[in-house]
Amino acid sequence: MKKVAIMTSGGDSPGMNAAVRAAVRTALHKGIEPWGIFKGYDGCIDNNMELMSHLSVSNIIHRGGTILKTCRSDRFRKIEGVQRAAKNLEDRNIDALVAIGGDGTMRGLVDLQKYWSGKVIALPGTIDNDLYGTDATIGYDTAVNTAMTAIDQIRDTANAHDCQFIVEVMGRYSGHIALMAALAGGAEEVLIPEINSDVTKLYSKMETLSAKEKYSYIVVIAEGDEAGSAFDLASDLKKRFGVSYKVTVLGHIQRGGSPSVSDRILASKLGNYAIETLQKGSNGVMIGEVKGDFVHTPIEQAFKVKKQAPLLLYDLVEVLS
Ligand code: F6P
Repeated sequence: MKKVAIMTSGGDSPGMNAAVRAAVRTALHKGIEPWGIFKGYDGCIDNNMELMSHLSVSNIIHRGGTILKTCRSDRFRKIEGVQRAAKNLEDRNIDALVAIGGDGTMRGLVDLQKYWSGKVIALPGTIDNDLYGTDATIGYDTAVNTAMTAIDQIRDTANAHDCQFIVEVMGRYSGHIALMAALAGGAEEVLIPEINSDVTKLYSKMETLSAKEKYSYIVVIAEGDEAGSAFDLASDLKKRFGVSYKVTVLGHIQRGGSPSVSDRILASKLGNYAIETLQKGSNGVMIGEVKGDFVHTPIEQAFKVKKQAPLLLYDLVEVLS
């Protein structure tokens, strides 16, 4: 392998920079040319690539976002886009591509392999933690910590005013962030897409707690829950039971910020291993970490197999609240 391209794609997640740094520096260490592709699949289509150096990834391990930029590419969903990207990689004699991103990035790699004969390795980079074949995705730990810190701050106000809050967190169709942030933040209730939400039960629990003279109350809801958004839930509760909840939607603050220790370490290990395993001939797999070991999962499986949220923790939120 002489030339490896590295890109970030889809929604950014904290730790992507650490993964890019690790892949670039490992490649240089092994005498391989690392090429950075800017703006994900759009950059492949537009031939937006640059040779990276030791210095181009200096001082980025602690930064959120991604120095390579990223996007959700509409053009890459069309065959012409994929073919164009494949031709650009071919013309530049790129031997392999390391792509860091979420399920959309994985789908893209499967399409790219239909038109390009280079090797591809995917690294799981998304705050949602919804990829099969890894205990955690790069960015998830930081996002949960961000959500927990926000809940802590909301709790101060909830407690001071004896009032109720609904806090909406990200995660697309998965409840991982909601569950962990709710447990760590001591929330009274959590609503996740994996479990049918019972709004009547939620209300009666609030009644029971008020009878015990606990008046502040925090409900965490995952954005993908079938009860709808935090605003939908608040208006449902108002309509049905006449109670008022304040609503906070955490939104994109969960995507940014300096990556946590866990995310930096995971990203550094995976970025390094991606190059090592490419040299040994690996192709078409996502590299994850399960119980401390590197695991190779066929890319299609990584985004098609549903990764279970730790539902025991759901019961724990209930018991501890
Ligand atoms: O996949 C990461 C994520 O932040 C999801 O949690 C969320 O549903 C989505 O991206 C938001 O995407 P966008 O920033 O494109 O609106």
